[in-house]
Amino acid sequence: MSTILLAGGAGYIGSHTAVELLNAGYEVVVVDNYSNSSPEAIRRVEKITGKTVKLYELDIKDNAKLFEVFKENRIDAVIHFAGLKAVGESVQKPIMYYRNNIDTTLSLLETMSEYGVNNIIFSSSASVYGENNPVPYTETMKRGVCTNPYGWTKSMMEQIFEDAAKADENLSVILLRYFNPIGAHESGIIGEDPQGIPNNLMPYVSQVAVGKRECLTIFGNDYPTHDGTCTRDYIHVVDLAKGHVKAIDYILSHNCVEIINLGTGTPYSVTEIVSTFERVNGIKVKHVYGPRRAGDLAELYANADKAAEILGWRAEKNLEDMCRDSWNWQKNNPNGYNQ
Ligand code: NAD
Ligand code: WQD
Repeated sequence: MSTILLAGGAGYIGSHTAVELLNAGYEVVVVDNYSNSSPEAIRRVEKITGKTVKLYELDIKDNAKLFEVFKENRIDAVIHFAGLKAVGESVQKPIMYYRNNIDTTLSLLETMSEYGVNNIIFSSSASVYGENNPVPYTETMKRGVCTNPYGWTKSMMEQIFEDAAKADENLSVILLRYFNPIGAHESGIIGEDPQGIPNNLMPYVSQVAVGKRECLTIFGNDYPTHDGTCTRDYIHVVDLAKGHVKAIDYILSHNCVEIINLGTGTPYSVTEIVSTFERVNGIKVKHVYGPRRAGDLAELYANADKAAEILGWRAEKNLEDMCRDSWNWQKNNPNGYNQ
């Protein structure tokens, strides 16, 4: 059975992907420095699946330590989740973002090359489409002008992977461009555990619902959308995780360089998220309308056809599932992994 190394695998998307890979029969090795996560997430992955995960605490920028992991394990493919991801913080601390996100990528590619590992899947983002591409975003569009350093790190890393694959015909790469992952495993045992004040909509909504935050501010209601609030392509994190299993199946049997969107193709507005959350969970989410947030685009969603054609994958869960599972995780774990 193939062994998959999850770089940054203790995080939100990595932990859900670990569950789906283990359920599909893969062996999983996780490497993480817990800069935005906890080893408790992996203990819970083991609880859900009844299987064990080999876990290493280290900074992926540290080549020497990463070499040891590849020496100890026969790795068939890598999924690279490790990165800093807070858009606002990336504007305040661009050097930290470029250093961490790009160095982890270089470190992984160097180590893979040293140990003859030829398959890597990368967590990219819809943010690489930039400001000027029209929706729905299609993989054939050129990468655009990003609105913040976080987005630029993703754009630059895509370029690095493409150049590396051009120079080494044995290297296979799949760049997965995620849209807006929300939700949690249906057990409510693992989920998103942001540190401090959440930057993203769904954790903010859940924390207002559970009483940790007073009130949600909806950033702008004067956008040219059907109800004036921004629309996004929200995707259930378990669907997203299953997309990674399909991508692993594919990369292990094809020599390829592919860019693939992972979204549903259906946009929902901020107001629709709040009202669906309230209805499905029978709980009020106090909210007010405030000014627009700098850098937000009015509308953003995927053309999701390529994932269906190449990977045989489409998202299966709907917005109600996303809202129910987000709340199930939040109400059972009001303090996340810090019990
Ligand atoms: P996350 O912060 O929960 O997970 C990232 C993990 O990487 C964390 O466990 C963190 O501790 C680890 N990490 C960071 N730097 C590291 C380093 N130098 N060495 C070792 N470990 C390190 O984030 P997530 O939501 O699970 O996102 C996973 C990936 O997907 C990220 O690269 C993110 O940019 C990308 N992405 C996320 C979203 C989203 O909305 N969540 C959307 C698009 C793309
Ligand atoms: C969603 C909508 C906000 C919070 C970001 C990154 C993107 C990717 C996903 C990592 C927007 C509105 C939010 C709040 C609000 N991440 N909102 N009140 O900005 O679409 O995407 O996360 O790769 O690269 O840019 O996600 O969850 O922050 O916002 O009204 O308190 O919710 O204005 O319309 P976004 P988000």
